[in-house]
Amino acid sequence: MYVINLFMYRHNNIILVKCEIMTGYLLENLNFASMPENGTSYGIVDDGAIAVDGRKIAWCGERPQLPSRYSSWRSYDLKQRFLTPGLIDCHTHIVHGGNRVSEFEMRLQGMSYQEITEQGGGINATLEQTRRLSVSELVEQALPRIDALMAEGVCTVEIKSGYGLDAKTELDMLRAARQIGREREIVVKTSFLGAHLAPPNYRDQPEQYLEKVCIPTLQKAATEGLVDAVDGFCETVAFSDGQLEALFSHAESLGLPVKLHAEQLSHSGGCQLAARFRALSADHLEFAKEEDVIALRKSRTVAVLLPGAYYTLKQSQKPPVKILRKHGVPIAIATDCNPGSSPLNSILTAMNLSCTLFELTPQEALAGITVSAAKALGLTEVGQVKTGKTANFAVWNVSSPSELAYRIGFNHLAGRIYEGKIPSSLDQP
Ligand code: NIG
Ligand code: FE
Repeated sequence: MYVINLFMYRHNNIILVKCEIMTGYLLENLNFASMPENGTSYGIVDDGAIAVDGRKIAWCGERPQLPSRYSSWRSYDLKQRFLTPGLIDCHTHIVHGGNRVSEFEMRLQGMSYQEITEQGGGINATLEQTRRLSVSELVEQALPRIDALMAEGVCTVEIKSGYGLDAKTELDMLRAARQIGREREIVVKTSFLGAHLAPPNYRDQPEQYLEKVCIPTLQKAATEGLVDAVDGFCETVAFSDGQLEALFSHAESLGLPVKLHAEQLSHSGGCQLAARFRALSADHLEFAKEEDVIALRKSRTVAVLLPGAYYTLKQSQKPPVKILRKHGVPIAIATDCNPGSSPLNSILTAMNLSCTLFELTPQEALAGITVSAAKALGLTEVGQVKTGKTANFAVWNVSSPSELAYRIGFNHLAGRIYEGKIPSSLDQP
């Protein structure tokens, strides 16, 4: 949108006309949570105003303080709604083929996730269903899940590979993720998860798989510009910390940051490995100990908690939230949307579960899907309402942000503003 201001003034007896073209607009009559850097408060601004210039926040604060240079910008009345940063789902496996509903039923009859994996189910079952699909079929299957996240105000999503475990399908999954970023108004950050599990043909030779398939595939994917970070699954049923070391060294040599599925089902040394490589995040963490948390603090690694997996697998050991708090490790929350351990497709439900199951406060849960989730992806321009950041917002029909975590299965979203674009739902007189 363009606003043209004409100013006439006299200079040395000549009348000059100055023409100023402004691209911005104002959001007014709203309250907002700015979500400050330290993640310990909402940073609420009552009776706020936000000036948006193109894709960026030009100014935000209390409306009476709005600088006069913005007062002629077109104003949108948000009718006292509550605004937060656009939400971020920082850990998903949302690109995958088919489903594992039969395993859901097996688990209900008492089988464990590990038992199902050992019998050839689990990740390997999704492998077969994913390898059959083309890039466009992968995109087609993932888009309804992406749309559901966007309908809850998500503006940034991380998508992992890891259900191909051969060069072709791993690359196709990442290509599908990139294509989703072009087809939808959402930022997609990709993680190469070739080290999710050794595929059946390398079942007893995980090192061989890493050396012969995984690392060369990472190399190709990086050359094609398909990788934003490198991930692995450090677990007794997957890879050991020692085995993942070679992969992470390779990631380092490519200049790619790492993240890790760590201490989910057992204490496997994942946190210490993640810390040694200054990982962006260590995810799951149910079995993490205090010394692990201290290591994450030192390496400035974000703890990503995934209550959907904890809930689905009916785990009883909770991640050490009090210890994470004690050492000031930033906590992020994500859906872990995947067909096996977390068929959860709602970031709002993830918030609720993180409060009810892990005793996070609603404020911590919101920080977990905004400012701290941005850190877990190495992003600096999103996750907060602050001058200079990208104008990604979620506008809610709530009066307090804690309501977002409180209702279960209800979507309060009034509109999603992506890179400054106002949706028709908010463009009402
Ligand atoms: O984050 N933990 C490993 N990976 C996924 C599970 C994937 C699957 O079961 O398909 C997770 O929980
Ligand atoms: Fe995961």
